[in-house]
Amino acid sequence: MQASKRLTEKVTWVGKVDWELEMFHGEELSTARGSSYNSYLIRDEKVVLIDTVWLPYDKEFVRNLKDEIDLQEIDYIIVQHAEIDHSGALPELMREIPDTPIYCTNNGKKIIQGHHHQDWNFVTVKTGDTLNIGKSTLTFVEAPMLHWPDTMFTYMSGENILFSNDAFGQHYATETLYNDKADNCELYEEALKYYANILTPFSALVKRKIEEVLALELPLNMICTSHGVIWRDNPAQIVEKYLEWADNYQENQITIVYDTMWNSTRLMAEAIAYGIQAEDPSVTVKLYNVGKQDKNDIVTEIFKSKAILAGSATINGRYLSGMGGLLEMIRGMRFKNKKAAVFGSYGWSGEGNKLLAQDFAGAGFEIITEGYRTLWVPDNDELIACQEFGREFVRSL
Ligand code: FEO
Repeated sequence: MQASKRLTEKVTWVGKVDWELEMFHGEELSTARGSSYNSYLIRDEKVVLIDTVWLPYDKEFVRNLKDEIDLQEIDYIIVQHAEIDHSGALPELMREIPDTPIYCTNNGKKIIQGHHHQDWNFVTVKTGDTLNIGKSTLTFVEAPMLHWPDTMFTYMSGENILFSNDAFGQHYATETLYNDKADNCELYEEALKYYANILTPFSALVKRKIEEVLALELPLNMICTSHGVIWRDNPAQIVEKYLEWADNYQENQITIVYDTMWNSTRLMAEAIAYGIQAEDPSVTVKLYNVGKQDKNDIVTEIFKSKAILAGSATINGRYLSGMGGLLEMIRGMRFKNKKAAVFGSYGWSGEGNKLLAQDFAGAGFEIITEGYRTLWVPDNDELIACQEFGREFVRSL
């Protein structure tokens, strides 16, 4: 069955579009629009395979690859990143062509071995190393932490393609393959969600790596990522976006995240939102119930925000567990240059707010006010006070 897609005379997409994927990284990352695992076959005087696909699709991948080429014709395999969504089909493939050299970074070799426990024919490469494959040359660029220590890019001269692996990718299933064929609103939503949830902790490295690659002044016709679309229409657009996102990106947005037991904290959140908007109509205000709504979407909104308000009822001397889960994710993101305040209702001693403020401060947020607490259910006066708290919060930014 035909499953591959020809990109250029020399380069063919041989990956897998996963329309069903709902969660990635176990249950950590929601993928509401599916994903793809992009693998590429290069035919020059030598034949090269770049990356494979996720483990559940290994047999399908190798079967389709056999329809595209006699596997014995593959001279080199390049593994740009050992994470299982890209190296998952290696064992199935290597059973067929066990001696084929695998080009990867030194970390890549260790991590591939750590996953697959095989001593394949590894050739380790570092930045600037090249592989002549005929008319084109492949140049390797190590890109550690984009998104694992082993990651590297591969640049193909002649075709002027940057194979970027995870960088510039999105969890976005599309049959049409290219950025100019995709719904660009959806595409950018997914590209931003991907950056915010996966690459934020490594922003300093992202910026440095992009500047290093741009300094090479390589001609660029396409960026072939390992997830989502291939950037062929103005591929520099996503590079420019990454430079923006990596530079402590923020919009004129305040996100209110709250967790609530009997709706008191929700009522406070809505009154605070009203106060913010009344004080400064230019600010985008968004509200999320962290106990109910998608945590990765919330992380994306926090990524875009200049400030957040975090609210929780107090329970058992703590804040609610939905907020606890979100905070754990946020700690890992290492956000910078964001302000915050806390609020919430309580009935007994009300320690939750204080702990929440401490933990957001520990996650790198600047706590700019004392916060606001309401005993039991807020009445009309309390809700007016919450509106005023929202107004004051905006004024103090
Ligand atoms: Fe798509 Fe870091 O793996």
